[in-house]
Amino acid sequence: MKVITNIQDLQASIQQVKNSGSSIGFVPTMGYLHEGHLTLAEEAGKNNDTVVMSIFVNPLQFGPNEDFDRYPRDVERDAELARNVGVDILFIPEVVDMYDGKQSVTLSVIERVEVLCGRKREGHFDGVVTVLTKLFHLIQPTRAYFGLKDAQQIAVVEGLVRDYFFPVEIVRVPTVREEDGLAKSSRNVYLSKEERREAPSLYQSLIEAKNRIDAGERDPDSIISMISMNVQENTSGKIDYVEAYSFPELAELSRLQGEIIIALAVQFQQARLIDNIIISVEPEEDSNV
Ligand code: PAF
Repeated sequence: MKVITNIQDLQASIQQVKNSGSSIGFVPTMGYLHEGHLTLAEEAGKNNDTVVMSIFVNPLQFGPNEDFDRYPRDVERDAELARNVGVDILFIPEVVDMYDGKQSVTLSVIERVEVLCGRKREGHFDGVVTVLTKLFHLIQPTRAYFGLKDAQQIAVVEGLVRDYFFPVEIVRVPTVREEDGLAKSSRNVYLSKEERREAPSLYQSLIEAKNRIDAGERDPDSIISMISMNVQENTSGKIDYVEAYSFPELAELSRLQGEIIIALAVQFQQARLIDNIIISVEPEEDSNV
C-alpha cells in the first residue's frame, strides 16, 4: 500500500494507474476507521483493480459549534487497517493542500438539504460536495463507495454527480448492523448499558414500518406516529426527527409510494443515533381510479 500525503505524488500515481487501464474504486473517509469504512473498502476491492482511500478531516463540513478540533484522529492505526483490507493507495492530505488560499469558486447545495440532518447543519453539505469535487478530480474514480447509513449524504452526492456529469458511479453500500439490528457506529460506545439495550428498537420500529407498508399502509403520518410512539415507549432517547421522503430526491410525500426513505435520529445522553430504511413501495391499487 502506498501512503501519499501530497497532491503532486497522488496525481503521478493516479496517472500511472490510469495509463495501465485499471479501474479505480474510491472510498472517501475522515479517518478513525471502523467496520463501516472497511466494508466500503472491501466492496471497492471486489469490483475494481485499484482501491484508493482518502483520510481527510474536512474543516469545511463542520459548523462553528461542531467538533472539528476534537474529531478523533489515529493515522497509524488507520493505515494498518487500510492495508489489511486491501487498500492500494492511501491519500492523507493536510488542510493546506486541499484548501490552499482563498477559494475563488464555492459550491452550494440547494436541493435535498432542508430535511433530515441537513436542516440543522447549515453549510455541512456544501463542505461535503466541495471536498468530494476536489477528490473526484484528483482521483478520477470509476466508482465511489458510500454507506447508506448516511443516506442524505448519498442523495446529495448523487445530485452532484448527476448535475455536473462526473464520470463516476456512486455505489450505495448497505448499513452494517450488530446482531440485534443496531446500525454500527463509532458513537455506539457512548451509549450507557441501559441505552445500548434500548437502542435496537430504532431499527425494530423501522422494520415494523416496513411490515405495515407491506400490509397496505400508505399514510406517511400514521407510519411516522407509529415509529415515534415505539421509540418513545421503548427508549429513554429524545426523538430529533422521524421523517419519510422519496429517495433520493428527498421530496415530501402525501402517500407512500415509489422509492422511499424512512429515517430517524434519536438523541441519547452522550450519543445521537441515526438510522433509516430505503424501500420500494408499490402504488396503491386504486391510485389510478
Ligand atoms: O462521510 C464522510 O466521512 C465525509 O462526509 C466524506 C464523504 C469523507 C467527505 O468529507
